[in-house]
Amino acid sequence: MDKMLLLLFLGLAAEICSGLDNGLARTPPMGWLSWERFRCETDCTTFPDSCISEKLYMAMADKMVELNLKAYGYEYVNIDDCWPAKERDPETGKLVADPDRFPSGISALADYMHARGLKLGIYEDFGVQTCAKYPGSEFYMEIDANTFAEWKVDMVKFDGCNSDPNDSPYGYPTMQFYMNKTGHPMLYSCEWPLYESKKPDYALIRKTCNLWRNGHDIGDTWKSVSSVIDFYGDNDQNFSAYTGPGGWADPDELVVGDFGLSYYQQKAHFGMWAMFSAPLLVSVDLRTISQEALAILQNRNVIAIDQDPLGVSAKRLDGMNLPNSISVWTKPLADGSTAVAFYQKGNSGRPTLVSTTLANIGLASGNGYNVTEVFDGKGMGTFKPSSPFKVLVDPNGILLLKAVPM
Ligand SMILES: *[C@@H]1O[C@H](CO)[C@@H](O)[C@H](O)[C@H]1NC(C)=O
Ligand SMILES: *[C@@H]1O[C@H](CO)[C@@H](O)[C@H](O)[C@H]1NC(C)=O
Ligand SMILES: *[C@@H]1O[C@H](CO)[C@@H](O)[C@H](O)[C@H]1NC(C)=O
Repeated sequence: MDKMLLLLFLGLAAEICSGLDNGLARTPPMGWLSWERFRCETDCTTFPDSCISEKLYMAMADKMVELNLKAYGYEYVNIDDCWPAKERDPETGKLVADPDRFPSGISALADYMHARGLKLGIYEDFGVQTCAKYPGSEFYMEIDANTFAEWKVDMVKFDGCNSDPNDSPYGYPTMQFYMNKTGHPMLYSCEWPLYESKKPDYALIRKTCNLWRNGHDIGDTWKSVSSVIDFYGDNDQNFSAYTGPGGWADPDELVVGDFGLSYYQQKAHFGMWAMFSAPLLVSVDLRTISQEALAILQNRNVIAIDQDPLGVSAKRLDGMNLPNSISVWTKPLADGSTAVAFYQKGNSGRPTLVSTTLANIGLASGNGYNVTEVFDGKGMGTFKPSSPFKVLVDPNGILLLKAVPM
């Protein structure tokens, strides 16, 4: 993109994207989230090391420090469902953490994170109960917002189970109002579009939330991950137009390092989340993660694409007629260059050759481009827009490139 266009684009982005004004999530948040990997295991007798308990979150924080993940940008350690006791405090109406699994309490857990330069996220639900049937926030939003602020929680994920879907446009902003009123900044992650009964009003969602989950929960399978990528390519109702500093569409947590994906699938998963400017919240056991998966999560070049300050979500270029379910996606970056992903959803058994030109993928700057492969940082050379451009794309894989105009 040339300079004039870039300026115009930045201006437009500022217009469209007037979002939630809490100063948070200027780039997509990064960290760790318990749900996909640890779910709602509350039996700490049988599963002392993996039940939802303060021990688990402390162990993950320790590993984040040991693996130096903060230096890569990972800072949130996020609790998901199943942390509270089944009943609120009968006198104050406040939520209480399960006393057996969180004997020190959430406030102490937040201190534990802060002492390590990390942040604590928590989970609630705007219905009468959470998805796993713990007490919900309906009728208690002000109390809950105050409680989270008092505990110095840094992020709140607000689910929508057991609520009236017609209430989403009122419930989510109400919680935001009370969270703002506490004066304590808390990043607000909403599952609003997922539970909305009507066409989601993404402009209002962006004014209310820092993150919005718009698809179903991710699973640890290629089928699940690739269907999320399809969903972002289809971009139903243009949701990606609302992504930008302060507010991000959330394709759900990362399952890099878990059980279901091959190495190449994990690379494609991580690379595409970076293309979407998605939050990078990984749900993995950091105590046993493989070196290979860790290297993916610690790839600074890919993280830089995710954290690019322009904050655009990649668009799939449709109508390209490429072989073997390959699609091409482009994402403009703040420095005027473009990230390009060649993504092969299917498995054709071997790397597939794609012969095209940069002009075909919308890169038309007359002086040409200097292209590098993002994962390993290897230079591919310089190309005029019309010169032949040939790449190999792995099955269930990604070739992620950065094209710098010369
Ligand atoms: C509350 O909202 C105001 C106005 O949008 C904003 O300036 C302020 O930073 C917000 N405070 C918190 C804690 O989110
Ligand atoms: C999507 O949103 C952008 C920004 O608001 C707008 O320019 C574009 O026309 C929209 N596209 C569709 C298909 O609605
Ligand atoms: C292309 O970029 C690489 C770094 O990726 C750099 O080493 C090289 O000098 C650049 N080439 C040109 C012609 O700008």
